[in-house]
Amino acid sequence: MAKVPGKSSTYLLLANIGQLLTLKGDAAARRGRDLQEIGLIKDAAVLCGGGKILAAGPQRELLRDPWVRTKRKKIQELDCDGRVVMPGLIDCHTHPVFAEPRLVDFEKRIAGAGYEEIAAAGGGIRSSVAAVRKASRGELSKKVLTALNAMLEQGTSAVEAKSGYGLTMEDEVKSLVAIRDAARQWPGEVVPTLLAAHVVPQEYHGKADEYVRKVCEEMIPLVAKKKLAKYVDVFCDRGAFTQEQSEKVLAAARKHGLGTRAHVCQFTAAKLKPLLEYQPASFDHMDCVQPEDVSMLAREDTVAVLLPGANYFLGHKEFPDARRLIDAGVPAALATDYNPGTSPTPSMPFVISLACTHMKMTPAEAIAAATINAACALRLQDRKGSLEAGKDADMAVFDVKDYREIAYWFAWDRCVEMVVAGQVCS
Ligand code: NIG
Ligand code: FE
Repeated sequence: MAKVPGKSSTYLLLANIGQLLTLKGDAAARRGRDLQEIGLIKDAAVLCGGGKILAAGPQRELLRDPWVRTKRKKIQELDCDGRVVMPGLIDCHTHPVFAEPRLVDFEKRIAGAGYEEIAAAGGGIRSSVAAVRKASRGELSKKVLTALNAMLEQGTSAVEAKSGYGLTMEDEVKSLVAIRDAARQWPGEVVPTLLAAHVVPQEYHGKADEYVRKVCEEMIPLVAKKKLAKYVDVFCDRGAFTQEQSEKVLAAARKHGLGTRAHVCQFTAAKLKPLLEYQPASFDHMDCVQPEDVSMLAREDTVAVLLPGANYFLGHKEFPDARRLIDAGVPAALATDYNPGTSPTPSMPFVISLACTHMKMTPAEAIAAATINAACALRLQDRKGSLEAGKDADMAVFDVKDYREIAYWFAWDRCVEMVVAGQVCS
């Protein structure tokens, strides 16, 4: 999808909305029972101007407004024909800079091998590195743009995008520039993240601390100076980086003015308290969190980003315990984790479906987790994640009558229209 060129009207009215999900409320992550609050308005309309929402509410009221009545003919109109309109989905965790799918790993797993076992035998993240190192920045940028467009088609208008398959200064910078180049050709917003601490590259085998030093003393400072990333992420788990090494990476990020986030508790429980020192915007995966950490996180702003696409694709029976986290008051978000090893899907609606069927979240909770709470995970909640006057006019139109259908139908793309920054994409 691309922006419709040559539309002279700067005002856009989404009319005849059957169900409008505003997600209206404080610009803060929803916790506990509040995660259910999706601000549903029936028979609604939304007026946009200058890329922002001007008004969102019952259509009868909105059309009665004197300003709207006098200007009506000059306002471009999108007839939503009784469909569901909601804020553009926010995919707050993706790894889109890779060159090839990992089909050998896929077949090995079908034959019974585990993810960590495959990684230890030379597959896994390291096997995506060679192709990224060989690829040009232009080739990578094309791959990223293809993924971003696939995301947009399924309702996503803001994406966090990580590097992490280059693992040298040159290749991590190339990956981040590829993200920047793709983002410039995409109507939505992209939040770039440096994930040089994804795994220890082959050439540093047995010298992990030396690699961490390189990440902290060379890569993070350069990426901060070139403004190529907003966040630094680290994979803190068995087979990747230790707790101590992870803390060093997050400390270096803070020192250089970058935000922090971390892959934690995917395979083994990390100690979350020391990592919280670095005020991470999110802790991602969270499959095996210690009980004492759950109550601690309920008092923090760090968002737990749950990634059920990875559990699905790895064939796990267990999924992150969303109910335990949500019911304890931990702010939870959802994301695809789009990557070649554990979650090759660009579809947030599929993730919403998985959250309902495998993590027992209600459709309303899953939608809030994929919009306002995902915005909080990227610290974009002042502009994105809900449909309220003054916020960015990013909206997804789904060809369904009831919002619960967004979670109900799966592997069926029901998103028929996207509005990004107040412009209809086609
Ligand atoms: O989030 N866990 C670390 N990183 C990715 C997997 C990346 C890969 O296997 O290529 C994840 O699941
Ligand atoms: Fe990930």
